[in-house]
Amino acid sequence: MKLINKFLNLLKYDSMKLPLDFNKSDYLELHPDVRSAGIDPKKHYLKFGIKENRQYKINPFYEESTKNDISNLLAKYNNSRPYQKNSFDLFQGSWSTRFKDEKGNFLTNCTFDGTNDSRLEWLFEKINLDNLKVLELGPLEGAHTLMMESKGANVTAIEANIGAFMRCLVVKNQFNLKSNFLLGDFNKMSLASDEYDLVLAFGVLYHMVNPVELLKKISVTSRKLFLWTHYFEENLELWNSKLKKQLEQKKWDYRNPEIYQFDNCPIRIIKQKYGHELGWSGFCGGLDNYSYWIVKEDLLELLKRLGYKKIQISFDSVTHQNGPAFCVFAEK
Ligand SMILES: C[S@@+](CC[C@H](N)C(=O)[O-])C[C@H]1O[C@@H](n2cnc3c(N)ncnc32)[C@H](O)[C@@H]1O
Repeated sequence: MKLINKFLNLLKYDSMKLPLDFNKSDYLELHPDVRSAGIDPKKHYLKFGIKENRQYKINPFYEESTKNDISNLLAKYNNSRPYQKNSFDLFQGSWSTRFKDEKGNFLTNCTFDGTNDSRLEWLFEKINLDNLKVLELGPLEGAHTLMMESKGANVTAIEANIGAFMRCLVVKNQFNLKSNFLLGDFNKMSLASDEYDLVLAFGVLYHMVNPVELLKKISVTSRKLFLWTHYFEENLELWNSKLKKQLEQKKWDYRNPEIYQFDNCPIRIIKQKYGHELGWSGFCGGLDNYSYWIVKEDLLELLKRLGYKKIQISFDSVTHQNGPAFCVFAEK
């Protein structure tokens, strides 16, 4: 009888449809009780999770209620004197970038001086951006968009974080930008071959669950890539001393590197988990609560194998406060 019941149960679960975006590892991450009980996440979700309304995907921006919440929140009036700063003040406490108006008055009072970024100045020394078609991944608040547009670039910038996207629109309005900001996940974009002259991927690669796939995609659509990213440095002695404790606490799972095979070349990727930063309204990382960092040598080898023959590195800082990082200008 027990066996028959087991068989009937199996049939029952197989015939029930899981949500298309059901994610097994997210489910286990979200529900440690399921993990420790050793139950198959799909079966658990179908048998209990649905009834208990359990979350099955880690994705704070995709919850169904988000759209309604935003509409309700925005159905309000601002009855103060019309003033440029009002739109900036809507996001008080969430801004990361310092912006000033034409008279030099602060519109936001932040530390990141993104509109005067020396890394971008380095790019401007290398190429003329006038009339170049640029794809910018994760513009945050449009500071680099503004810098590139001031050099004549036609920028399309893709931002998935709704708050950041809206702050980009505030900036676009303030500075009369013609750049186009699109809301959505750039991993889900279909990009045609050689569609862009340049891809700017600043501060995004290390937020990816699949950074190698993203680089593959970029390499198809553009012959030039300007990257700023954290990388995984194998010599842990070289890291910033403040991060050594976090290394010990396994923020980076460096003892278990995973291998991504590309073109018969093993690319080592290290899982990284976010911490308390996830709780801040201005936090703009990736769409998941973990990501993978590529080992430095493997990242450079991968770029070569993706066809980028000329690789220039600058701003390489192994002791960076958030982890080893560098700027790479890669050209085919
Ligand atoms: C660390 S910030 C970097 C911002 C800016 N590029 C810079 O260098 O200052 C990462 C940005 O990418 C956005 N982002 C991350 N993953 C994304 C995705 N899959 N699609 C679109 N935007 C994404 C985040 O919301 C955030 O604005």
